[in-house]
Amino acid sequence: MSVTSTKNKDLDIHSKVEQLVRKLTLEEKFLLLSNHNEQSAFSSTPIGRLGIPSLEMTDGPLGVSWHSSNRRGTRFPATICLSATWDRNLSQLMGEAIGREAREAGKRLLLAPGVNIHRTPLNGRTFEYMSEDPYLTKEIAIPYVRGVQKQGVGACLKHFAANNQETNRRTSSSEIDERTLHEIYLRPFKEIVQEAEPWSIMGSYNKINGKYVYENTHLLRRVLMKEWGFDGFVLTDWDATEYMHDAAICIKSGLSLEMPRPHCYRLELLRASFEKGEFTESMLDDVVGRFLRIFFLTGILTPKENSDDKRGDSTQHPSLARRIAEEGLVLLKNDRMLLPLRLQKTRRIALLGPNLDVKFGRPQYGGSSAVVPPYEITPLQGIRERSEGNIDLVNDASNADIAVIFAGLNHDKGKDSESEDRESFDLPQDQAELIKKTAQDNADTIVILISGSPIGMEDWLREVPTVLEAWYPGMEGGRAIANVLFGDVNPSGKLPITFPRRLRDSPAHSGKGNRTYPGDENLKVHYEEGINVGYRFFDTMSIEPNFPFGFGMSYTSFEYQKLRVDKKRIKSMKDHLVVSIDITNSGPVNGSEVIQVYASQNQSEVQRPLRELVGFEKIMLRPRQTSSLSVTVQAKDLAYYDGEKHRWRLAAGEVELHVGSSSRCDFLSETIVCYED
Ligand code: BGC
Repeated sequence: MSVTSTKNKDLDIHSKVEQLVRKLTLEEKFLLLSNHNEQSAFSSTPIGRLGIPSLEMTDGPLGVSWHSSNRRGTRFPATICLSATWDRNLSQLMGEAIGREAREAGKRLLLAPGVNIHRTPLNGRTFEYMSEDPYLTKEIAIPYVRGVQKQGVGACLKHFAANNQETNRRTSSSEIDERTLHEIYLRPFKEIVQEAEPWSIMGSYNKINGKYVYENTHLLRRVLMKEWGFDGFVLTDWDATEYMHDAAICIKSGLSLEMPRPHCYRLELLRASFEKGEFTESMLDDVVGRFLRIFFLTGILTPKENSDDKRGDSTQHPSLARRIAEEGLVLLKNDRMLLPLRLQKTRRIALLGPNLDVKFGRPQYGGSSAVVPPYEITPLQGIRERSEGNIDLVNDASNADIAVIFAGLNHDKGKDSESEDRESFDLPQDQAELIKKTAQDNADTIVILISGSPIGMEDWLREVPTVLEAWYPGMEGGRAIANVLFGDVNPSGKLPITFPRRLRDSPAHSGKGNRTYPGDENLKVHYEEGINVGYRFFDTMSIEPNFPFGFGMSYTSFEYQKLRVDKKRIKSMKDHLVVSIDITNSGPVNGSEVIQVYASQNQSEVQRPLRELVGFEKIMLRPRQTSSLSVTVQAKDLAYYDGEKHRWRLAAGEVELHVGSSSRCDFLSETIVCYED
């Protein structure tokens, strides 16, 4: 669609919304601000007189939620696995597929994606979020949002903002300085709002610097709506306003929809507050109008557009889920090239560990993101199917060619699950013991981790030659894992989060006492590490992690050569440059590599992290194939946020661009110059 026709469409929707708002009575506007139907926690209030139906919602981001209908949806891999693919196209396809299924289930708002930054590995929702890095987060989330909305289903970015832990999530206050807030925690939201225009945003449970977001006129009205140009609607997280009673402040801040039931927007509170003149009807019209926009964007006011037209073929979704799992699996260690399994030499495999035959798709399991699929292939099933009866699958490691242990976490409370954080960073003791004992029985022991967050490995990592991170790989996960084990698929996933050696190495846990995590006696969580989150911290403080951000091995090898940069000077925030290299697959099998570009600007007057991700591309190459690959670097991604001037700026000075295969491994570099902007 051309820019002019998009603008015309926007104008058209704008005037239709205005007309509809004019027809509503005051009482109807009040009704629209919340859900008044106790039977449903995922619908808005319909206004029958004007043909406004209820907006039906469903949870994501791993698929259409189990609570949406009796129909079972595709269970995709956890979102952290999607990020580990570093593949924008797969993210768009996953968004399209989930949007399609949401629409088929009669839902027009998908409560996803979650784009909160991984600040601590203990966050129970790490598996649902994308990365510790704002650039990777937005690059994966933008196509996801576009994909969902292409299906006529609204995406809902969540949770706005600085919602980085589950402990005390409804009462804690994230205490953050302005630069850090914008540069790390708000940045994905800003970029996604500006690039992908999500139709809604969900506020968070926590406070930021003492204020709930729903009473934060500065953050919602000024920053989100005015500066970033967000014209969608803001809704609450479920019951997030239960501790608030001020209707006027929520309307003034721009809150359109209180879910799943009214607290501030109880009818008697609204009436009384309006009569006292605490808010005007035009303020009310703004929040109602923002909400009504989605009825036109989805087409649900027009019966013809609302018909259950098929938008593509959902029978392909399970194979898409498998592809995402295959591309997102990260090979962390592979001494002696134990993987891929050599079929001629492998007659007997010992299969062990608590996650060997577990199905994770159960109602509520893990929290709101639970998806119950029509079937789920466990690792045991996947390996059985792939070995076609030609390999003995046993449970005694001492008497097998190879032992594979399926270890990790699950979605029980206190592990990878919503509403509580992880109780421990380490693998449960019995699993660590099992790994050590098995490695003694059989030197060829492979550990496959099924988990949604980094796990401590200090007491067993050296004992085993091979470790594969499989995340929660979704309904086709067992097949994806088998394909990687047997070499049908060459792993190419890269870590979207640092795997620390010890918990105290990571930024949120390096402070003294509870101040930085999970919060002091006043429930304040002090983000004292500032902008040094994730690898920014490990690099700046020279702390060696177990596995760095961006890391992931392959069954082949790659050579990086001939770095070129099309421009040596960056003069404005609107600029961009193109970094090109020649890359060769120098190993024996087909393989994909993620070429990563990091910027370092350590000579400027402003304090910067040692390096920051500013670009990447993924490419598939056949053995001995060389290809020239270009990565675009946007000037705005080289910028920092000036907390005193309250804006993004380019710092004057030299910037080194490093090109490599992880945040800690670069092969080529080039220096460019930035001018202040
Ligand atoms: C979660 C949201 C979710 C909502 C509705 C809340 O507890 O934080 O992410 O969308 O419930 O299920």
